Amino acid sequence: MTPSPFLLDRIMAVMEAAFDPAYGEAWNRRQVADALSMPSTHALVVDGDGELLPEDLASPRAPAGFLLSRHVLDEEELLLIAVMPSCRDRGIGTILINRLFEAARARGISRIYLEMRRGNPALHLYRKLGFEPIGERPNYYRMANGERIDAITFGRSI
Ligand SMILES: CC(C)(COP(=O)(O)OP(=O)(O)OC[C@H]1O[C@@H](n2cnc3c(N)ncnc32)[C@H](O)[C@@H]1OP(=O)(O)O)[C@@H](O)C(=O)NCCC(=O)NCCS
Repeated sequence: MTPSPFLLDRIMAVMEAAFDPAYGEAWNRRQVADALSMPSTHALVVDGDGELLPEDLASPRAPAGFLLSRHVLDEEELLLIAVMPSCRDRGIGTILINRLFEAARARGISRIYLEMRRGNPALHLYRKLGFEPIGERPNYYRMANGERIDAITFGRSI
């Protein structure tokens, strides 16, 4: 199913503001639309109070953060999480991940995975929310300048 343009606009507004281009982690609109056209991929978008924004309706409330995830059987992967720089350190990332736990449980998911580049400060958020490191892929990511960075995989039962 084609994702709503309202949903894509909100995700891309946060995406374009949140990611440091040096790491090449941001997705473009086409990548987000393709991912969300699959029924196994899910999006959560919240405003500055952590309230969910409707997927297919206009809203005067501006998006502050989003989270994308994909499930396979009873496991779900957190694909991307981002919060507007002006809205950080107010608990919105925490709210997004807690909302993921809630939505994933409702889908019958028992375990969540994610992968991050070594050195990403998001580590603090993941550890605080109970994710444990379970593996490493040396030199997995390539930065815009060609440098390689390890990927670290985390998991948590829910
Ligand atoms: C990672 C990110 C989503 C966190 O969002 P946030 O709304 O600021 O997170 P929270 O306010 O819920 O923070 C939760 C905890 O993590 C800590 N934390 C979050 N980002 C941090 C950072 N960059 N450096 C150090 N600590 C950080 C907070 O201080 C807080 O700790 P505390 O509760 O002990 O005070 C946000 O920094 C971001 O969008 N980063 C850029 C995109 C990115 O790298 N995403 C992850 C890879 S996909």
